[in-house]
Amino acid sequence: MKKQEESFLKASDFGENFTWGVSTAAYQIEGGHDSDGKGQSIWDKYTENPKMIQNGDNANISCDFYNKYKEDILLMKSMNIDNYRFSISWARVLPNGVGTVNDKGLQFYNDVINFCLAQEITPWITLYHWDLPHALEQKGGWTNRTIVRWFSEFTTLCAKTFGDRVKHWMVLNEPMVFTGAGYFLGVHAPGKKGLKNFLPATHHAVLCQAEGGRILRKLIPNAQIGTTFSCSQIDPYRENKRDKKTAIKVDALLNRLFIEPTLGLGYPTNDAPILKRLRPFIQPTDMVDCKFDFDFIGIQNYTREKVKYNLLVPHIRAKIIKASKRNVKTTLMDWEVYPPSIYKMIKKYSDYPQIKKIIITENGATFKDKVENGGIVDTDRLNFLQHYLNQVLKAKNEGLNIHGYFVWTFTDNFEWAEGYFPRFGLVHIDFNTLKRTIKESGKWLTNFLSNKN
Ligand code: FCB
Repeated sequence: MKKQEESFLKASDFGENFTWGVSTAAYQIEGGHDSDGKGQSIWDKYTENPKMIQNGDNANISCDFYNKYKEDILLMKSMNIDNYRFSISWARVLPNGVGTVNDKGLQFYNDVINFCLAQEITPWITLYHWDLPHALEQKGGWTNRTIVRWFSEFTTLCAKTFGDRVKHWMVLNEPMVFTGAGYFLGVHAPGKKGLKNFLPATHHAVLCQAEGGRILRKLIPNAQIGTTFSCSQIDPYRENKRDKKTAIKVDALLNRLFIEPTLGLGYPTNDAPILKRLRPFIQPTDMVDCKFDFDFIGIQNYTREKVKYNLLVPHIRAKIIKASKRNVKTTLMDWEVYPPSIYKMIKKYSDYPQIKKIIITENGATFKDKVENGGIVDTDRLNFLQHYLNQVLKAKNEGLNIHGYFVWTFTDNFEWAEGYFPRFGLVHIDFNTLKRTIKESGKWLTNFLSNKN
């Protein structure tokens, strides 16, 4: 796709009812890590050990959204953004995960919601974006089946407190990533490893996903209830039988594991036999309880992966070939820039007849931004967004089930184990002064969104 053509992209091409927005997550932006009675989360705990995060960074202050939310929401407004997806820090509202409620924590989110509504920005809440209260992790966290009860308490509190004004909800953010990175590979909080942690965490997250949906539906009239999944096109590295089979297995693990039980299809054990080991954690009515008919499914796409068979990798027998080894264009995360992936994922999810509606709840990129005369020139990000959006438009024009798009992310922020090094924002943050500056990509989006009808 030539640059020329993309610059003609107009928001109105996507139709009047297409939803446009930006996404963030509590731990990545809020700071205020111990303000006003907030409890510790697994990320607060994990980042105490500087070895776990690039440059020893932590998000104790981060963007200080806790104190600067008005400035950010006003900036959003000035950029024609009228949907804002953010998450609730569980430990801010329930410092011990369950039990005592922190009223000041609830007040903060009430203030954010009310300020959004006053600016005519629609709030979209993600209940869980990875920051489990540390007090619950001490009891086993996601590996402990009681999490279904803990999560229900948290969901009920949020629904009852915010549900009169917030009508767009997502239960979980990318369960594959928080279980895979946090409970299998040990590269995210809480840093647990191995199948013995991953398998129960997976099954309990699947149960919470549906239970959260049911609670929201019961307590909030007219709510649009969704949940979100990470997804990437998975291709074989070599065109041989073994790599092709490996690609099907990795696709089952990365793209299908969490959605299919929700749709009533069970776990994809045929294509990923390792999942048979989930059995000991599954109780008699669980596969019924795992089902929930979400109003929408959020899919989050950044890249594609190439995989090959590898006998040496325990359990999975598959290896992801890094983008940097494949001579392709990459972002600073070493993720391949591959716009057709987003189209293929929309197509893949559109093929499930049970899915009512798909929304891209995250897409974006990190590159080295250039600071020039006080402005931020981020041509690579601008091109990335335009190319990916063009693929979304292609999907839409073909009649696929796609209804909205949220950019990851509004401001630069704390990128988990990579710390502050990768910047994904439409708005630059100087982390010494916390000054916000709209990047070229942000200016382009502002203009793009001025043309919605
Ligand atoms: C997604 C996460 C989000 C952010 C982006 C870059 O996997 O949901 O918090 O880190 O990646």
